[in-house]
Amino acid sequence: MTPRLRQWLFETLYKNEYLYRFASTVPFAGQWRVWQRLVLPRLHGHDVLELGCGLGDLLADMLEAGYNCRAVEYSPQMLEAARNTLQRRKLGEKSWVLQGSAQHLSFSDASFDTVVSTFPSEYIYDPDTIAEVERVLRPGGRLIVVEGANLLPTGFLQPFLMLLQMLVYGPSAVYGPRKEQNLDEELARNAETVDPEDTILHINRDTGTAFTTDVLPDAWFGQHIPLESQGLRRRSERVRSRRWEVYITIGEKS
Ligand SMILES: C[S@@+](CC[C@H](N)C(=O)[O-])C[C@H]1O[C@@H](n2cnc3c(N)ncnc32)[C@H](O)[C@@H]1O
Repeated sequence: MTPRLRQWLFETLYKNEYLYRFASTVPFAGQWRVWQRLVLPRLHGHDVLELGCGLGDLLADMLEAGYNCRAVEYSPQMLEAARNTLQRRKLGEKSWVLQGSAQHLSFSDASFDTVVSTFPSEYIYDPDTIAEVERVLRPGGRLIVVEGANLLPTGFLQPFLMLLQMLVYGPSAVYGPRKEQNLDEELARNAETVDPEDTILHINRDTGTAFTTDVLPDAWFGQHIPLESQGLRRRSERVRSRRWEVYITIGEKS
């Protein structure tokens, strides 16, 4: 698929909530929501802003968990979908989801403890976005970016889904943040470089799924998010289960 066709595909997805839900569920073996929810244990403080909230599922999860949340979404169709999600789940108010752009936030300085962005589009690489995030964060606050995720080639279905993703989204969707396309090589490299003390094992209480979190001192993902130039300190975490791995970049404001 050509880059222009791919861009058209993404723009079409952001205009139709049903297509978007299909595209973020089926090709990813239903794991997208699991990946979004990795944000929850990383939230800091009480006041949270979500950028590009899409369908608003994570926003609703955070409100349900008791956080005081606002969201900014660029696409009018996604804005409507997110507001409907809040209404359907009887959480918050429609006006808490604002139409706008991450590059120009309409909030006062130091309004939030955490800013969240899951599966962001190009806006997250724009220095204007990170400058705005730094401005609205309180001292000690953090930006959490779930930049991407990959299914791993296990079982019967996942290799097929990976092939499908590669055809539709391009190889970067499958191998994007990975340095090596050969998973065995990458695992070996990480066994050498990751300090076992920086590996944390979690068990998801709802699903019983075990996953590990590695804090990577020199991660190969998230490098294009311009944190340091805007005064945020970088922390890179790779979360891995038997079926997938997820790339999380955190920017901390001192
Ligand atoms: C790939 S979707 C991810 C949506 C959601 N966070 C999720 O996890 O499913 C990217 C979202 O960012 C929104 N978006 C794109 N550019 C934006 C911008 N400059 N400011 C705010 N939102 C933007 C899109 O409309 C879309 O809903």
